[in-house]
Amino acid sequence: YRDPNAEDKMNPFAEQEALEERQIRKATLKFDSRNRKQAFDEYQFVFDDQIDFVKTSVIDGDKFDYEEMVEDSHEKSRAKTAREALQEEREKLPIYPYREQLLQAVHDHQVLIIDGETGSGKTTQIPQYLHEAGYTKHGMVACTQPRRLAAISVAARVSKEMGVKLGHEVGYSIRFEDCTTDKTVIKYMTDGMLLREFLGEPDLASYSVLIVDEAHERTLSTDILFGLVKDIARFRPDLKLLISSATLDADKFSDYFDSAPKFKIPGRRYPYEIFNFTEAPSDYLDAAIEASLKIHVTEPPGDILVFLTGQEEIETAEENLKHRIRGLGTKIGELKICPIYANLPTELQAKIFDPTPERVRKVVLATNIAETSLTIDGIKYVIDPGYCKMKSYNPRTGMESLKVTPISKASAMQRAGRCGRTGPGKCFQLYTAYTFHKEMDDNTVPEIQRTNLANVVLTLKCLGIDNVMHFDFMDPPSDDALLKALELLYALSALNKFGELTKVGRRMAEFPLDPTLSKMIVASEKFKCSDDIISIAAMLSVGKSIFYRPKDKQVYADNAMRNFHTGNVGDHIALLRVYNSWKETNYSTQWCYENYIQVRSMRQARDIRDQLAGLLERVEIELTSNSSDFDAIKKSITSGFFPHSARLQKYGIYKTVKQSQNVRIHPGSGLAQVLPRWVVYHELVLTTKEYMRQVTEINPGWLAEIAPHYYQLKDVEDSYSN
Ligand code: CDP
Ligand code: MG
Repeated sequence: YRDPNAEDKMNPFAEQEALEERQIRKATLKFDSRNRKQAFDEYQFVFDDQIDFVKTSVIDGDKFDYEEMVEDSHEKSRAKTAREALQEEREKLPIYPYREQLLQAVHDHQVLIIDGETGSGKTTQIPQYLHEAGYTKHGMVACTQPRRLAAISVAARVSKEMGVKLGHEVGYSIRFEDCTTDKTVIKYMTDGMLLREFLGEPDLASYSVLIVDEAHERTLSTDILFGLVKDIARFRPDLKLLISSATLDADKFSDYFDSAPKFKIPGRRYPYEIFNFTEAPSDYLDAAIEASLKIHVTEPPGDILVFLTGQEEIETAEENLKHRIRGLGTKIGELKICPIYANLPTELQAKIFDPTPERVRKVVLATNIAETSLTIDGIKYVIDPGYCKMKSYNPRTGMESLKVTPISKASAMQRAGRCGRTGPGKCFQLYTAYTFHKEMDDNTVPEIQRTNLANVVLTLKCLGIDNVMHFDFMDPPSDDALLKALELLYALSALNKFGELTKVGRRMAEFPLDPTLSKMIVASEKFKCSDDIISIAAMLSVGKSIFYRPKDKQVYADNAMRNFHTGNVGDHIALLRVYNSWKETNYSTQWCYENYIQVRSMRQARDIRDQLAGLLERVEIELTSNSSDFDAIKKSITSGFFPHSARLQKYGIYKTVKQSQNVRIHPGSGLAQVLPRWVVYHELVLTTKEYMRQVTEINPGWLAEIAPHYYQLKDVEDSYSN
């Protein structure tokens, strides 16, 4: 499975782009060398005269006695153990007064739609209530999350609330990482993992309750889960099904689930104001940084939440903010910067939940994850530049790309709502009111309508759903996209010409990978190089970059990288060499430092590799190494990636063989200067140009040999004539 949560994984250019962007921004970053007074003046100037905010709306809060609650909480928090304090926090959540009613509703109905504001306690409390009410006596409670980070973080929180060790009674399961034991009764998991569990246990007999949480996110896996859980609820009357959502989609979910009753959990909402720019800023990241500074200097205490699009952008913002805060001098209070994104190391993630010390203001730089998946307390100010990174897919070309895209109105409202949870708040939208009303879409297009479906179609076929065109989709994908997926699976021999699953297809489905990768692994049996191929597959599946290229040591880093490319073996075999060299040093950290390799990525690759080795055993493929026979390895790669072949034209431009599309080799590839005539690539990515990433040279004859049903001889005739 391609994990939609690794938001930067799909953009191999992120690093390069961020670098370029950073250089541009450096030019606008003027005040670090000036004294505080001047800086402050310029900073005021930027805000007061250049672009201005206007208050555009005021959102009312709920009616309840805020003062009384605050006093109440002070009263109670005296001399309590940490556990008791957590119990009291639980009782203060908006969901708590509805506990009995909710349990009654679950008792009375098989399917329930839960509709409630973010932060009301749905994700952390409902599984505990169900556990306390005895539902875990006959099976686990599963609670799905669209994001890995949310699954881990929420599981950690709930285990703390229950006073148990994470992974025991409360655990989590994400791709390539299972943190559960036999004791586990509450299991937070990504939606993709629950989808995979259907393959091993089609009736999900080990679960008594399924909670599809954050349903409004409408990820690909969540959308497929809808159809599957609706179906098993019909033949498992004992199974309880809860669909939980943070927005006003409840009616749509209810209609889809045969008019299932809705249970509303009122949030606790304070009034908040929305401010808009009168003019769109030329650089939203700069504007976001300036807005953070302005709030820090001029607004009363309260933490700030800034929505950015990904890791690189967050790192740039962090760097710039630090610079500029230094420029403001010592009279300004401390600003604690807390980044949060999917690939952030776990030990740093927890920082965002730490309470802010007095006199210190926290600014959380977050991706979309803070929109609904994670609730961060104490946020009083939200800065919303109005963008997110979004995947799009062109079924005609098969090109998937991850682009910075304007958000929808629904997203903007969710983001704004984050400022009114702990007290009255303010949201600064770095776009105009006109943009909000006239240019933004009402809702985000569900992922199922903008992604490659090959993986999902293979899963459905494995579950015995023969006619995927008639699957009960809440919002069906286009016929084009489905056909394209079927075509690809047929080409990979995962389906026969009647569209039925083959033995190859069944073996492929065992691997939680894209079909091209799993086909490469299955094919390695024939070429006797399964041991090498799973290392390559693991290296390709790592969320982050393998190579480390610090700005001040680029020359050394590039030299180190070149060593692995000796003989122009191509990027796949270079990755294999990296892995094997690391293994030879007994997985040495020092070796990674010396070779400009990211040790964290390597450890992840090793974990993934171990799991792939286990799966090989399950499909009864022997582990054999053939690491000196590059052709055998390349043929295995070609067996999965032959649909991704390209031939050199002129001036370094390649044409993809099937779609006749112009593409280039990514500058980071070991073959970027070599320009072999025929190549296969791992993926195409669209940034300023269309690039092939992870490229290996092939012999065109292999295409006809390996995929005679896909390539005709004329496709692979070696000439420059067209
Ligand atoms: O799911 P929903 O948005 O309704 O709320 P939740 O995620 O259950 O969060 C309820 C409360 O739990 C938050 O307001 C936080 O105070 C706390 N929480 C936390 O401290 N750390 C987490 N990782 C998750 C939740
Ligand atoms: Mg939640």
